[in-house]
Amino acid sequence: MPVTKVVWLGHVTAQCYRCHSVSASGGTAGPDLSKLASPERKTDRRFLLESIMIPNAKIAKGFGTVSVVLESGKIIAGTIKSEDADSLTIVSTQNKTISVNRGEIEAKTITSSAMPDMKKLLSLHEIRDLVEYLSTLD
Ligand code: HEC
Repeated sequence: MPVTKVVWLGHVTAQCYRCHSVSASGGTAGPDLSKLASPERKTDRRFLLESIMIPNAKIAKGFGTVSVVLESGKIIAGTIKSEDADSLTIVSTQNKTISVNRGEIEAKTITSSAMPDMKKLLSLHEIRDLVEYLSTLD
């Protein structure tokens, strides 16, 4: 196994594969990273490093967590599936797809990443290996 893949699979606390899959193996809580470094994605090492160190900097489409308070007092928390000028579609934490009109929304919290901040879990050396590994995923 290339040394760069060892952290991905073997790191006890980081456990990237628990939430991400590569070539159809791994979890689904985070985006599939199989094509992460393909030319269409235009990801560079800087972006990859940032994704690991500051997950909130750019949220992958469809994976931001949000919670909204409706005028009725109802609170919905989950991930944003889609949004347009009039509505917001959220997949709730109970796995229900709910569409809300923007007009009904009283308050909305800032979208954040469900990905743990890896700065505290990994050494610089491990992070460098990970960026190297991720940059081969095309
Ligand atoms: C608890 C689940 C979880 C773990 C563990 C996790 N991630 Fe994530 N990751 C996410 C989620 C959710 C997102 C999408 C939100 C975002 O963009 O930050 C994400 C986004 C990413 C992205 C950006 C993907 C894109 O398409 O823009 C990269 C790269 C990434 N993770 C790498 C890693 C690496 C490397 C590890 C292991 C060190 C890891 N993740 C561990 C949940 C996780």
